[in-house]
Amino acid sequence: MDIIRVEGVAKAYGDHQVHEDLTLAIKKGECFTLLGPSGCGKTVLLRMIAGFESPDAGKIYIDDTLVSDADDSHQEIPPENRGLGVVFQDYAVWPHMTVFDNVAYPLKIAKRPKDEIKKKVMDMIDIVGMHGLEKRLPSELSGGQQQRVALARALVGNPSLMLLDEPLSNLDANLREEMRFEIKELQRKLDVTVLYVTHDQEIGLAISDRVAIMNEHGKIQQIGTPWEIFEKPVNPFVFSFMGIANFMAVRREGADYVVGTGNQVVPWEKPVGEDRQWSAGFRPSDVKLSRSGEGLKGVVKRANFLGAMMDYLIEIDGEHLRTSIETHRALTQDLMFKAGETCVVSFLNLLWFRAEELQEVVKE
Ligand SMILES: Nc1ncnc2c1ncn2[C@@H]1O[C@H](COP(=O)(O)OP(=O)(O)OP(=O)(O)O)[C@@H](O)[C@H]1O
Ligand SMILES: [Mg+2]
Repeated sequence: MDIIRVEGVAKAYGDHQVHEDLTLAIKKGECFTLLGPSGCGKTVLLRMIAGFESPDAGKIYIDDTLVSDADDSHQEIPPENRGLGVVFQDYAVWPHMTVFDNVAYPLKIAKRPKDEIKKKVMDMIDIVGMHGLEKRLPSELSGGQQQRVALARALVGNPSLMLLDEPLSNLDANLREEMRFEIKELQRKLDVTVLYVTHDQEIGLAISDRVAIMNEHGKIQQIGTPWEIFEKPVNPFVFSFMGIANFMAVRREGADYVVGTGNQVVPWEKPVGEDRQWSAGFRPSDVKLSRSGEGLKGVVKRANFLGAMMDYLIEIDGEHLRTSIETHRALTQDLMFKAGETCVVSFLNLLWFRAEELQEVVKE
């Protein structure tokens, strides 16, 4: 069953059309991540679902209740009656309130009895691992601890749906990595549906049941499991959004597919389609590098030691690509290249895109 349905929603600020005819459904119980570049309209969408903004057109349903209707009844259910837990981008906790009071706030507003508030707040403080810190002020907490307070406050009313807007953006890399698994754990423990919004594709891959990729114009490009999005991207935008991507120009010459300005044939199965100009897409980890043997002959233009990895920039007949290899393996297998040395490239995986599709991405 769908817990959120967004149907044909539009939203503009002045003449800036952020969303147009946006449709999206989130299933009950899933952890759904909306991924897209900065400014594409993720927060605006979340604010409309939460009820802090009204759409210009379209309908939004939560749990089959029509909460926003810009088309017919013009109904708007206010945020406090939508039954949501929300953590926004700046996750503001109130600086003058203790941890306990911050977490208790939504229950106090809802005028719950005192003993119930005490029990629920202490339970939630426990769940987010803040036991013993309930009397502290936010200024006496680390960024990660403040983050947990914001999560506890969003969860204390026992919402069936949580909206999380970049809740980890202010944390350092280590804490971010730890917190994302904690959020996932909380989601399982409390059996809550999560809509998570971010531009960080690693988080999207790590915690989601399904991911939606939005382009900079607010258009959803693909919805699928993390694996589908990573392994079977529908277009070059999705492919390049999910990590470092190489695109190599390839032209059809009779039955052959030839790289760049040279005459070397791509060592991979051919694309399906009649186009003359193609782009071969692959990630640094899809490249197999060697000194000789079968494959495309290239020249190492730049070699960087990054600690655990060696990073190489390679030119093949006018086309440039990046690849990396574990330093340990490079040392033991004679793959420690210097700039100027020749190399041979073959592929572990390669995706074909029409050159036109790639042009569209570059233009945007
Ligand atoms: N209240 C507003 N008035 C005018 N323009 C707005 C308003 N809110 C958002 N916008 C514009 O709408 C667009 C989408 O903004 P939004 O905050 O949804 O982006 P985002 O995808 O959340 O980006 P980020 O990843 O940086 O948080 C931006 O161009 C923004 O400037
Ligand atoms: Mg945002």
